[in-house]
Parts: sequence; C-alpha cells; structure tokens
Amino acid sequence: MTSLDRYAVFGQPIKHSKSPRIHQLFAEQTGQALMYTAEEVSANVFTAMAETFFAQGGKGFNCTVPLKELAWAWTARKTERAELAKAVNTLALQVDGSVLGDNTDGCGLVRDLLVNHGIALAGKRILLLGAGGASRGILLPLLEQLPACIVIANRTTDKAVALAAEFAHKGDVSGCGFADLSSHAPFEVILNATSASLSGQLPPLPAGLLAEQGVCYDLAYGNEPTAFVRWGLENGAIKSLDGLGMLVEQAAEAFFIWRGVRPETLPVIALLNAER
Ligand code: ATR
Repeated sequence: MTSLDRYAVFGQPIKHSKSPRIHQLFAEQTGQALMYTAEEVSANVFTAMAETFFAQGGKGFNCTVPLKELAWAWTARKTERAELAKAVNTLALQVDGSVLGDNTDGCGLVRDLLVNHGIALAGKRILLLGAGGASRGILLPLLEQLPACIVIANRTTDKAVALAAEFAHKGDVSGCGFADLSSHAPFEVILNATSASLSGQLPPLPAGLLAEQGVCYDLAYGNEPTAFVRWGLENGAIKSLDGLGMLVEQAAEAFFIWRGVRPETLPVIALLNAER
C-alpha cells in the first residue's frame, strides 16, 4: 500500500487554522496526492514533535504562532529570507535527508500586492507599522522590490530603529516612533504589521499620512474589516486590504517548495472571501 505524502501545520492554538483547507484545495486543483493536517504543538514540545514528524516520514510542515522563531533555531539550513527574518514558517525535507527552513510570509505579501492587486512597490514610499516578528518576516522581500524607502514606525521607538539598522544593507530603511511620523509623510503604501488589529486596536496614526491614491494593507484578517482596514478607508485609501490574500499566497509558495507545482490562488482566495 502506498501512503500519502504527509504535511502539517504546527501551532497553538491551531483549531481555527485555514491552512489544511487551503492545502487541500491546492492539492485537488493540481492533482497532487497528499495529506495536510493541523497539529496542536506548544513551544515546549516543538523540537520533539518536529523530530518525530520527520522520523515518521513527514515531508514538510508549516509553523505559525508561537513557533516560527523556534523553527528558525531548530533548522540548521535556511534560505536567506528565513535567516534574516529570524523566523521559519515552512520546513521541507530535502533529498539528502536534511531539512530546509524557509519563510514564505514576505513573498506571499508581495505576490498578493503585486499580482493579485496590481500594486507595484518599486519607487514607492512605504510605511511599515510595527517592529515585531511580523515586520521582520516581510522586510527582505519588500526591499527586494526596490521601494524608494521603508520607514518602520513602532510604539517602542528603539525597536524600530534597531530593526531598520539590521536591514540597512539591503535598502533605504529607517525607524521612528509614531509621534515622529508626520515629518516622513506622505506614504503611498502603509502596511500594518502590529498585533494591535488582533485586539481591535489601532496604533496612534497622525492625519495626513497617506498619499493621494495611497494603499493600506493589514497583515491581519478577520471576518469583519479590521480597525486598520477601516482607518485606510476613512483616510482616503484607494484600496484598503486585509491579509487573507497573503495567507493564501504564503501557503501557495510553501506548496510550490514542497511539490514543485504552483497552484492557482485566486479561486481559493475568492472561496475563502465568500465564506466570511
Ligand atoms: P508579531 O510576531 O505579531 O509581530 P510581536 O513580535 O509581539 O508580534 O510584535 C507586536 C508588534 O505590535 C510590536 O511592534 C508592538 O509594539 P511594541 O514593540 O512597542 O510592543 C506592536 N503593538 C502591539 N499592540 C500595539 C498597540 N496597541 N498599538 C501599537 N502597537 C502595538
């Protein structure tokens, strides 16, 4: 009997993860025979679970909160984008038996903006709100699009300045506090990577931040528009998007890494949107 290639998402909590559904849809669409499950994994059992998964023949898994940094520490071999992100969301068994750690979050965001929404980043002034793991994870792919600049603004100013310094060799990046933002405005693209959305809150954003024809994008998503998506609409954004497209795109990139086939994402995004 041939068993199906096995994949999973590890996280805690994981019950509401859309990843098994997304990968199932990708597999059906591309005719790939595989199994993808959601596994409740706490930080203190991550290493044991990862080792067991591969020892039992698993081909690869995704990691979500709170495991991306642990997965980064656990994988000896990493792509440059994962190395700089200090977070791994995709682990893939290689032919030589080693495991490669990658991070598909930033490229998922960039593909959603560029391909799905026609929003180019080259030459643009980008404001990135937040200086935590979510911001770090997307900085390299954003800089690779050659924006005019990225300004990172954070509640704790020092963290924004330190994060900017880490990526300064890759492009024009600077860090500041929210109170200093007006002197850098306006921005053509504002990305919210704070965890404020998750509790329905907004960073303290001064008026006049968004350029005419500007775009807002919240990395978080929900069944209702997030506080930041609403802020974008109220402040004249021509598009104010949430992170559902990014979620599907980062999954598609992981699927491509594992299976060598790129699934069509638009039908999957449309289906998930219709179910909100
Ligand atoms: P994640 O991995 O989701 O980025 P994190 O590393 O804990 O999580 O970072 C959370 C980010 O959201 C930080 O930039 C945090 O600001 P501080 O560094 O000052 O803590 C930001 N954040 C969380 N709640 C916020 C709020 N209510 N207003 C503004 N920023 C907030």
